[in-house]
Amino acid sequence: MKFDIVTLFPKMFDSPFGESMIKRAVDKKIIEIKTHDMRQWAWNSYGAVDDKPYGGGIGMLIRVDVVDKALKEIKNKNSHVILTSARGKRFTHRDAERLGKYENVIIICGHYEGYDQRISDLVDEEISIGDYILTGGEIPAMVMIDSIVRLLPGVLGKDDSSKDESHSSEGYIEYPQYTRPEIYEGKKVPEVLLSGNPILIKEWQKQQLKPVKPKVNIPS
Ligand SMILES: C[S@@+](CC[C@H](N)C(=O)[O-])C[C@H]1O[C@@H](n2cnc3c(N)ncnc32)[C@H](O)[C@@H]1O
Repeated sequence: MKFDIVTLFPKMFDSPFGESMIKRAVDKKIIEIKTHDMRQWAWNSYGAVDDKPYGGGIGMLIRVDVVDKALKEIKNKNSHVILTSARGKRFTHRDAERLGKYENVIIICGHYEGYDQRISDLVDEEISIGDYILTGGEIPAMVMIDSIVRLLPGVLGKDDSSKDESHSSEGYIEYPQYTRPEIYEGKKVPEVLLSGNPILIKEWQKQQLKPVKPKVNIPS
């Protein structure tokens, strides 16, 4: 699977993609990641990719001709194009599974105040990673790629290790897990996990699977 990322900040990807699981997936040739500096398709000789919004308003917008030129060069018949957008569809585990089936995913990272609406017509989908505003689409691209890649066959140590995770079943979170020490500040590991009985342990783990309702310790 190949990822093409169109960004104003290609260097931002060096560290997160140069470590751990993504690096291993690249080394094993399960994925290929190519970053493209958006400025190579700039509309002027100073490398500008943005312009003022018609009708006024604060900030600048990424121009449609810049993204169009980029896609004409990068896209092929197997490409699926994503635009990062705070207005897009909220990214979920199901999307990570679905997007991992494409041969080529192209991610356009937005920046500035936003983008010319006509860019929307050039892409297959607009994706948001949550209801908050980030400075650009680089972190959303990293989040999506990380969650897609860890589900690809051969990436995790055991192909099974992503099966029981939170969100792998619709709306459920993983059972709680414990490691040493057995007792910490009076808090004990559940007895059943120390029993050595795999049937009882499996049963307990099944009972612990919960509908998504994260713990939030914020006074109301
Ligand atoms: C500063 S934001 C622009 C926000 C825009 N003015 C709005 O209100 O929707 C710049 C770019 O960062 C990216 N971005 C910001 N927040 C995002 C999010 N939650 N999910 C995905 N992309 C996001 C998008 O590409 C966006 O165009």
